[in-house]
This record gives sequence, structure tokens and C-alpha cells, in this order.
Amino acid sequence: MAEIIEVNLASPEFKCDPERILGPLRADHPVARIAVPDGETAWLITRWKDANAVFKDPRFRKDERSVLSAEEIARTCSSLEEELMMRHLSKTDPPEHTRLRACFAPLFAPHRVEGWREDVQTIVNDTIAQFPRSGPVDLVPSFASHIPSLAVCRLLLRSSHYQPLMIEYANHITARDIGPVTDDVKQSIKDLLVLVKELIQEIRARPEEGLLGDWLSTEDSEGPLTTEEILAMVSIIIRAGVAATEGLLTNGALLLLQHPDQMDLLREKPELTDSAIDEMLRYRPPSTLTTPRWVHEDLKMHGHTLRRGDMVLVSVVAANHDPAVFPHPERFDIRRRDNHHLGFGKGIHYCLGASLGRLEGKTAFPALLNSFPRMRLSCPLEQVPWTPGMKIAVPQSLPVALDRPVACSLT
Ligand code: HEM
Repeated sequence: MAEIIEVNLASPEFKCDPERILGPLRADHPVARIAVPDGETAWLITRWKDANAVFKDPRFRKDERSVLSAEEIARTCSSLEEELMMRHLSKTDPPEHTRLRACFAPLFAPHRVEGWREDVQTIVNDTIAQFPRSGPVDLVPSFASHIPSLAVCRLLLRSSHYQPLMIEYANHITARDIGPVTDDVKQSIKDLLVLVKELIQEIRARPEEGLLGDWLSTEDSEGPLTTEEILAMVSIIIRAGVAATEGLLTNGALLLLQHPDQMDLLREKPELTDSAIDEMLRYRPPSTLTTPRWVHEDLKMHGHTLRRGDMVLVSVVAANHDPAVFPHPERFDIRRRDNHHLGFGKGIHYCLGASLGRLEGKTAFPALLNSFPRMRLSCPLEQVPWTPGMKIAVPQSLPVALDRPVACSLT
């Protein structure tokens, strides 16, 4: 077995400057065995070409049940919530994944998401209008987490009086890190599932607009989606969709604050917003690691034997800074072209909500920059606190001084 390479992918130092650790790793140990919480080890993939190969190779599975024994499965999944967490899109492989993806994907297609633009713009405008008139503002609760949780809940339920409760749960549920699920996360998921079950019953009795209603009427050759499949989907889009978009808005804002020339450029040329969003997702992807994949049959990579049942993690942030693919990867350049970053993953598990995440970013950044032309970080970078855990690298709070807002010029 290969030696374990000592790296701390959860430390604030790493999150501030991932390349200091990942650069040497990518050069010398492109497939590295590292320790992960709970006493386990995983293979960490750091080169772009290898990351792509893993995304496309069916020998790397998402459903750990396909490589675990029955006893191990019983140990890892002791409750309904954990069972549900094993059955959503991101934890299944073909043919189950193909069927679920075919049912859910049309509802997140770019043309459909475009129809939500007005709603998202209203959410962004209302959010910014509520900023305090003076004093420092923490951009995380007031901007970055507010917009995505409101957007996802409003799209799920157009008019329901349950919306505020759902938003409250969405705000409480943190993205699951690598390792065991904590008790408070389990409780929040349990509460959310009870709520969604009630909603499903209500919508079945009195159909209403919104994604939840659409899913209830979705059928394929195997019949309608089951309540469990819908519950699993609601759970993943609230946990992954909200947290990841919050990460884009927080990391993107921090990058612009750290690079005032790029912030000015984006303000002057809003037509660069699309490429700016891609550059944010390349430079500081919110999910620095993908969710785990599991080796289904022994295979060789860079001289190592990866055995059936081994965990494999792709370092998205390392692949996104691979000098073999990105010229001057250390430059944050919102005009970058041919930006083949892996911020939304790739292959059959490519992010289902990518168009929605992009739409939220494209709407939120111009509004923020236009409203606060003198916005600046109000604490030294080293004092910005980071989320705990290995999977997500996003500031927990981002205090900014806004000075006085210009008369709101939101469109
Ligand atoms: C900018 C924001 C977002 C980022 C950076 C992001 C990132 C990602 C990444 C990297 C993956 C692939 C993980 C892997 O292969 O292991 C993924 C998958 C997924 N994302 Fe997102 N995401 C974002 C927004 C959203 C939104 C808004 C939603 C839903 C409303 C969403 C729902 C999903 C789902 C359901 C999957 C699993 C797809 C599958 O396995 O087939 N994401 N996301």
C-alpha cells in the first residue's frame, strides 16, 4: 500500500492558498493516498487529465453499496434519512442514475431556467434593498446565503405558505462533509423530510405551480416518481444547490475584493459577467473536492494499484490550476477564454443545477457592484473565518464596508 501523504485540506491556511499544498502534490504525487475523517484513507486526484478520466470511467462508482458488503451497508445507513441520502442522483450509478437524471434534468434545462430570470432578479433586488444604509455588512448571511435559499425554495413552491419554514430549514442544513453525518444535520434533514411529506400530500390534493408540483406529475415508463425519490431530490438540491451557490457568491465576492482591477473591469464591462463567473468557479470552486467515488474493480493509476472498495476524491481546485491546461493558472483573469474548469464536475454527474447557479451569479454580481461602487473588505484577509471540513472552502463570514450606496440602479 502506498504511504499516506500528510496534508490538511481542512485548515484555514489551505483554504486561503490551496496551491501551496496542491502545486507540489500535483507535480510529484498526482495520485496521492491521504487520510480523511473517521480513520479512512482516500486517493486524491490532482491533475486535470486524470480528473477527467475518473469522471468518465464507469469503474469509479458513486453508489458505495455496489462495493460494500451487506454488513457494511447496514452499518453506514441506520436511518431513513441516511438511506435517502444514499438514493439521490449524486449517489447512484447507471441504470438507476440514468432514469432519475432523465426525469429531473428537463426541469433544470437552460431554456426553462431562463424563464426564472425575473424571479431571481426580484430576489436579488429585494435582498440588496434590505442592506443596512451604513456600517459594515456581512455579505454571507445578507447576500450569499440569502439569495440561493430563497431562489430554490421559491422555485420548488411558487406560492405555498410553507415557503418561510422551508427557507429556515434550508438555512440550517449544512452541506455534508466527507465523513459521518453529524446529529444536528440528521435532525435538520428529518425535519425537512417531514415538511416535504406534508407538502406532497397537500399538492397531490390541490395541485400548485412549482418544481415540486412538476415532479409529482413526472412519469416515465416505470410510472411516476416515488415519494422517496422526490424527497431525496429535495434534500440534495437544498443541501448541495444552496450551499454551492452560496459558495460561488461568497468566493466570487472575495476574489473581486482581492483583485480591485478585475472588480473595476467587471463594473465597466458587464458583458464580461459570463466569463467572470467561469473564472470564479475555476479559481476558487466552492466544492474543492467532488463527492466520493468508489473503485469497482482493481486498476492502476500512475504506478499505484487502486483496489475495489477504495475511496477516490477529485481535487477540483487542483485540476483547475493545472498548468498543463490553464496558461498562467495563478492569474485571476475575468477575460479568460477556453476556460474548461471542472467547477461543475463533468460526465454523467455534471451539476444538474449549473444553469440555475450561473443565473444567480449573473444576476447577483452586477447588482452588487452597481449598488456599492466603493465596497471593500473591512478586515484583513487572514482574519476571514473559513467553513470547517475538507469538502467546501468558503468564508463563513465576509465583512465589507459599503460606504454609502448609490441610488439603487438595479434593473
Ligand atoms: C454555482 C453553484 C454550483 C456549483 C459550483 C455546483 C457544483 C457541483 C459539482 C462539482 C457537482 C458534481 C459532483 C461530483 O461529480 O461528485 C454537482 C452535482 C450536482 N449539483 Fe451542483 N453546483 C451548483 C449549484 C447547484 C444548484 C443550484 C443545484 C440545484 C438546484 C445543484 C444540484 C446538483 C445535483 C442534483 C448534482 C448531482 C448530479 C448527478 O449526480 O447527476 N447544484 N454540483
